[in-house]
Amino acid sequence: MAEPSFAASSLVTVDDYESAARERLTPTAYDYYRSGADEEHTLRRNREAFSRYEIWYRTLVDVATPRLATTVLGDDVAFPILVAPTAYHRLACAEGERATARGAAAVGTIYCASTLATTTLEDVAVAAPSAPRWFQLYVHKDRAFTARLVARAKAAGYRAIVVTADAPVLGRRLADVRNEFCLPDGMLMANLVEALPPDLRDGAGSELARFFAARHDPSFVWSDLEEIVRQAAPLPVVVKGIVRPDDARKALDHGARAVWVSNHGGRQLDLAPATIDVLGDVARAVGDRCEVYVDGGIRSGTHALVALGLGARAVFVGRPVLWGLAAAGAEGVAGVLELMRDELIRAMQLAGCPDPEATRDDLIRRR
Ligand code: GLV
Repeated sequence: MAEPSFAASSLVTVDDYESAARERLTPTAYDYYRSGADEEHTLRRNREAFSRYEIWYRTLVDVATPRLATTVLGDDVAFPILVAPTAYHRLACAEGERATARGAAAVGTIYCASTLATTTLEDVAVAAPSAPRWFQLYVHKDRAFTARLVARAKAAGYRAIVVTADAPVLGRRLADVRNEFCLPDGMLMANLVEALPPDLRDGAGSELARFFAARHDPSFVWSDLEEIVRQAAPLPVVVKGIVRPDDARKALDHGARAVWVSNHGGRQLDLAPATIDVLGDVARAVGDRCEVYVDGGIRSGTHALVALGLGARAVFVGRPVLWGLAAAGAEGVAGVLELMRDELIRAMQLAGCPDPEATRDDLIRRR
């Protein structure tokens, strides 16, 4: 098994990366990344839910050369752990999203860049030009502006448009309200410069909440998704933020090519279910109509194995990558992904799974 390229011997878990990151981040930036909505039940549930699962491992299977490589929407990835969209990477490291792109590319996985990046999507693209990357889209009230974002992502060579469906309004993250969280001077939502309200800085509470209220479209519905699907074509559209089987089917009926089980890392509706608890039902509802992805609370390769076993084609990780980025820039991103990859390899070997397909079929049971 390859040694991580960035591996201070003290960084042996994702939580170690979080501690290292916390020392380097300002308290308000750490709070922004860490926090969930309201009482943070869902933030906690996403992680705690894993303890209810058991891996009924198979014995005496040849696992000498486990195969992790797979494809997502036709693109090759070296292992099925991908980088979820998260905002404001320049809070974690001066190079921001460009470092994230390089770290993900270095280990052969896909980075889904956020609309709310502090680096333009074009600059992210040139940071790792040969790696496939996805673009996460928030739908703005100004639909012409939204269409321009899609066109820019297409022109810059992104491979999929990921429409976030769980954020008609921004969830209330109490730490951000109390900290009056805003981007420091010199940092901007770089993709949105032409859309920033002039009075964004004015007002109490979270600047991001004010931005959402001013610009985001809470009237966006399933039939509107078809417009985005047409604009994105020939790129596939993925709908992110699904927890219900009926919503997963609706996404496909309205033209999505894949669904992403997510509750936004517990940052939107508190008391939403843990994603790992709904993944199996969503995967069964869509059957072989599409690929299903999941994020939420995945902090180890063993968690990733559980998700693959419950029907995910791939998992996405958000906060772990931010911790890697804050700890050591692009190398930290690569390091934390390699750590999780190596944990997944070990878990697959111990479970008697030579490849991701072998994780399906009665390996995972809920207590
Ligand atoms: C942005 O998408 C956030 O969750 O803060």
